[in-house]
Amino acid sequence: MVIKAKKELRFHLESLNTGQSVGLVPTMGALHEGHISLVEKALSENDHVVVSIFVNPTQFNNNEDLEKYPKTLEADLTLLKNISNDLIIFTPSVAEIYPEHVGSKTYDFNGLDKVMEGAYRDDHFNGVGTIVEMLLRLVQPDCAYFGEKDFQQLQIIRKLVELEHLPVAIKGCPIVREANGLAMSSRNERLSNSLRKEASFIYKTLQNAKKKFGTKSAKYIMDWVVQEFHDQPNFELEYFEISDIETLTPIQKKQQHLKYRAFVAVYADGIRLIDNIALN
Ligand code: PAJ
Repeated sequence: MVIKAKKELRFHLESLNTGQSVGLVPTMGALHEGHISLVEKALSENDHVVVSIFVNPTQFNNNEDLEKYPKTLEADLTLLKNISNDLIIFTPSVAEIYPEHVGSKTYDFNGLDKVMEGAYRDDHFNGVGTIVEMLLRLVQPDCAYFGEKDFQQLQIIRKLVELEHLPVAIKGCPIVREANGLAMSSRNERLSNSLRKEASFIYKTLQNAKKKFGTKSAKYIMDWVVQEFHDQPNFELEYFEISDIETLTPIQKKQQHLKYRAFVAVYADGIRLIDNIALN
């Protein structure tokens, strides 16, 4: 079932049997196997699943990126219907979501939004927080599903739920990759065939960084990664960071009790790709 209006969605959700669980999978469409893995997990854990498809303008920091964002609603609906006929698909317009003005709230994410994606994309996470809070309040799901592909986003949403006291369990789901290791992304479609093959280099570099993490210092690994990218003419490194997964602050001295991830953002022919890997 496809629903465009908030009121209609609430009406439908209220008609469901009490006691049945609802899962929410927020997306911006242009769906691929990464998104589908979230939907399948949600279906396996809930009686009802809402998938939202909404390209949220407040999380884009430039108009060109927003305009270029792929919009493939018909294909998305077909893909979702092939998984299950019981999905509740919410596809609101911008006016439905932002009836008064298109803008975001300002949150205090305790610095989680100041590093990596937040440092390079001004106000991005206030935009993400605004739409996710709105969807969580509207759908009131028991569980909401997010991919580790956007690990920083996942941690910020956990923080959002804590700040706003929202009664929902946030579930992080593993990164789905193409056969060559490239993390699936709507943006991969914009890569030429040869660049898409070459882009397996990003995950290989992360895997090698992970191998080195056992024996080498973080500084050594960072210098090594910078050099690896330097030697690749088609890839321009924006950042590589090794951070503690809870605070997302860059590693100082390795501490046994902390968990770390390596995070990378890379430009390939003007297309921005991100990826990350658990190190320990
Ligand atoms: P979007 O980029 O469409 O991603 C929707 C969800 O799919 C996110 O939780 C993202 O982490 C997950 N995802 C994307 N690629 C993945 C992959 N290769 N493996 C596993 N999960 C993957 O993220 C957003 O939309 C928006 O910021 C949103 C949360 C919907 C708010 O507008």
